[in-house]
Amino acid sequence: MPGPVHILGISAFYHDSAACLLRDGEIVAAAQEERFTRKKGDASMPLRAAGYCLSTCGITARDLDYVAFYDKPLLKFERILETYLGIAPRGFASFLKAGPLWVKEKLFIDRQLRESLDYAGEILYAEHHESHAASAFFPSPFQDAAILTIDGVGEWATASIGVGRGGDIELLQELHWPDSLGLLYSAFTYYAGFKVNSGEYKVMGLAPYGEPTYVDLIYRELMDLREDGSFALNQKYFDYLGGLTMTNGAFNQLFGGPPREPESRLTQKEMDLARSIQVVTEEVMLRMTRTAHRATGLQDLCLAGGVALNCVGNGRLLREGPFRRLWIQPAAGDAGGALGAAQLAWHRHLRQPRTSRPGDAMHGAYLGPEFSPEEIETFLRQQGAAYERPNREELLLEVARQLADGQVVGWFNGRMEFGPRALGARSILGDPRNPRMQAQMNLKIKFREGFRPFAPSVLRERVNEYFELDADSPYMLLVAPVRQQRQIRMTSQQRQLWGIDQLNVPRSDIPAVTHIDYSARIQTVARETNPDYYDLLKAFDALTGCGVLVNTSFNVRGEPIVCTPEDAYRCFMRTQIDTLVLGPFLVAKGRQPEWKETEQWQIQYQLD
Ligand SMILES: [Fe+2]
Repeated sequence: MPGPVHILGISAFYHDSAACLLRDGEIVAAAQEERFTRKKGDASMPLRAAGYCLSTCGITARDLDYVAFYDKPLLKFERILETYLGIAPRGFASFLKAGPLWVKEKLFIDRQLRESLDYAGEILYAEHHESHAASAFFPSPFQDAAILTIDGVGEWATASIGVGRGGDIELLQELHWPDSLGLLYSAFTYYAGFKVNSGEYKVMGLAPYGEPTYVDLIYRELMDLREDGSFALNQKYFDYLGGLTMTNGAFNQLFGGPPREPESRLTQKEMDLARSIQVVTEEVMLRMTRTAHRATGLQDLCLAGGVALNCVGNGRLLREGPFRRLWIQPAAGDAGGALGAAQLAWHRHLRQPRTSRPGDAMHGAYLGPEFSPEEIETFLRQQGAAYERPNREELLLEVARQLADGQVVGWFNGRMEFGPRALGARSILGDPRNPRMQAQMNLKIKFREGFRPFAPSVLRERVNEYFELDADSPYMLLVAPVRQQRQIRMTSQQRQLWGIDQLNVPRSDIPAVTHIDYSARIQTVARETNPDYYDLLKAFDALTGCGVLVNTSFNVRGEPIVCTPEDAYRCFMRTQIDTLVLGPFLVAKGRQPEWKETEQWQIQYQLD
């Protein structure tokens, strides 16, 4: 009898590289390289992530049956080259910069993969949007579904509409470079003074402060939007074709000045720009969704690609779109391409059927490293840390008590999440009822002046009591309003407050997780996928009558989410987190030895 089939999926060299391992089609491990190298959005060959994946099955790369790569480097090179030739000499600078990199790394990915992994077997290449589509459909709970992928750009495609049936997917329509919703959003991200590829989330969070004053201008000058959701961008205003920036002088003139300097004060203009591009993005998403519905006639929709992380847009698709249910790949960005490519190898190349199961195949996205109590205790001892090991019930009760008491808790539990969101495995938790919690967590723990509220984790069975939502949102990818009866209307005086000051006015009985437009970015928690986190929510609920916790990612600004007990302890000691829960251990701040920064632990925090 031959042993199980192992397929390693790899996504790399663009942003947020990752590895994923399938054993007989089952997702057994997946992680982003940044968590190991501690470089946010690390795009290099994911050697450590791959090493971690292989170690979960006790194999080496020589034991792999296939390596699957998430896009086709030659097609990508063709786009770069044609772009360069098409618009030279304007494209020259960026070609010079990108050129040697492509030649050195991307055209020789084959060799790179073989040499760095020490792998001699077959390498399969998927197309970029097929990888996204596969990552959206194959792990979903649906037998048949429409698929929508939207991102910046892959090889040529920037969005696709497809269909998944049983063990295969088919892309039916594509939108091509340079017409890209992801890049349009990134252009506004850049112009508003945020970092492209990570600041998009901030633009979405800033949008409720603004007015949609630029929407007409965007439709009139920047894009020709068609009824089916496809569009043409007026390249006169963009510089991502040939330049090293996203926008150009014509764009600046159109919107009345140069881009905001990063880190400078936010003004009403950035808020209005954010609101406007958000409105346009939602409209495009809705139109594409309707087209996907017409093209497939199916009832359910799967989403992936970086734009599928726009959870405000996703919430509207669910409320206003034609589909009955949505399922969104938690690693919707390029990291998830590693998973999609591996699944294409299994289902398409090896013609293996999907297994039916209740729920999805992502294991709650808890696919990263975990640490045994022995490993954690060894670390704590080496560190000279003071800790306790109460029994499970006592631990949950004590943590619930502390949270209710206004303390902030670092919660490190089980396997690390795959994808950008912390989902109760590497999370910082607080009491959402506390009107000071939002400011406290932002300033003392995340070291940022946050204009975004934090996200709530809520008991799945009680989501409808708090929010206008009665669906699963296990990956924090849906935004919905806080229930009307919980909302607190602002007085006319409070309404005069400007920008972030408005966020300090309690808007509901769970103010720390309520945005100024009364929306919340929701994670529903079910016992089947994370029993410890679920039971903690239950314990907090029993104590306070509140089935919701503030859940923010366990990291400080500019740093990737923590991976190891050491990362967690370091973050705990550098911030004003009151208590750290490391697996079964309780670590109280006041009892720790003095913290000394060592060179090994110096991290260059990037400003973002
Ligand atoms: Fe992508």
